[in-house]
Amino acid sequence: MASLFTLACPRSLTTLTSSIRPAARPATSTFLRRAFATVVDEQPRLRLGSIAPNFQAKTTQGDIDFHSWLGGKWAILFSHPADFTPVCTTELGAFAKMKGEFDKRGVKMIGLSANDLSSHGRWIQDINETSNTDLQFPIIADADRKVAYIYDMVDAQDVTNKDDKGIAFTIRSVFVIDPQKKIRLTMMYPASTGRNTTEVLRVIDSLQTGDGKGVTTPIDWIPGDDVIVPPSVSTEDARKKFGEVREVKPYLRFTNVGEVTH
Ligand code: BEZ
Repeated sequence: MASLFTLACPRSLTTLTSSIRPAARPATSTFLRRAFATVVDEQPRLRLGSIAPNFQAKTTQGDIDFHSWLGGKWAILFSHPADFTPVCTTELGAFAKMKGEFDKRGVKMIGLSANDLSSHGRWIQDINETSNTDLQFPIIADADRKVAYIYDMVDAQDVTNKDDKGIAFTIRSVFVIDPQKKIRLTMMYPASTGRNTTEVLRVIDSLQTGDGKGVTTPIDWIPGDDVIVPPSVSTEDARKKFGEVREVKPYLRFTNVGEVTH
């Protein structure tokens, strides 16, 4: 039975995906693959903790090998369905304005959109003009969706999110990647909903604080707020390490580690 993905994608894209699938997904018996085949597992699945797949691509700042480009730093990779579309234009303008904040945290930024380099170049002029900014990070030219495919970003559910040839665009994904190249956060938004740059920064602050201090962060946490002592740390050890510990329940204990300076 044809999957929704197959129905939504013309032959050119399904041919592309079939040709790269064997290298990109672990070997599974034919029986198991058929038994569990769904729309979702047509593309390789990336999990929190997966190593961000490597790829080579053309970007607006030159050709890159992604792992070399990462260079052992934190990074965000964020995708956009297409150039010259309204929501994407506002998103890239907002990310461009926040670059200083990502720089302070040592986070490299790279965008992706399903068009070619000449289109990206003209689109960046529009982004700079409409958001009054100066976009200074690379945007991957992924007109053939090769990178989108290995990052499970080709839209498999919104049949209106496609180009004029009927090929599915990407969804709006964000990947936060740590210095060990591990995926630490994924966000997936539909084409109709722009993201929130402040939330992306907030999660990076949480991850970097958590890694640095051995704590976790509660709902709506922002830097400077109390953090949580994880269950693996005794209250006695937490007091030695952090000073004051507020015990609301034996399993819910707060402390304050201050604001990590950037
Ligand atoms: C956008 O507004 O960004 C958008 C519109 C249609 C398709 C994809 C993206």
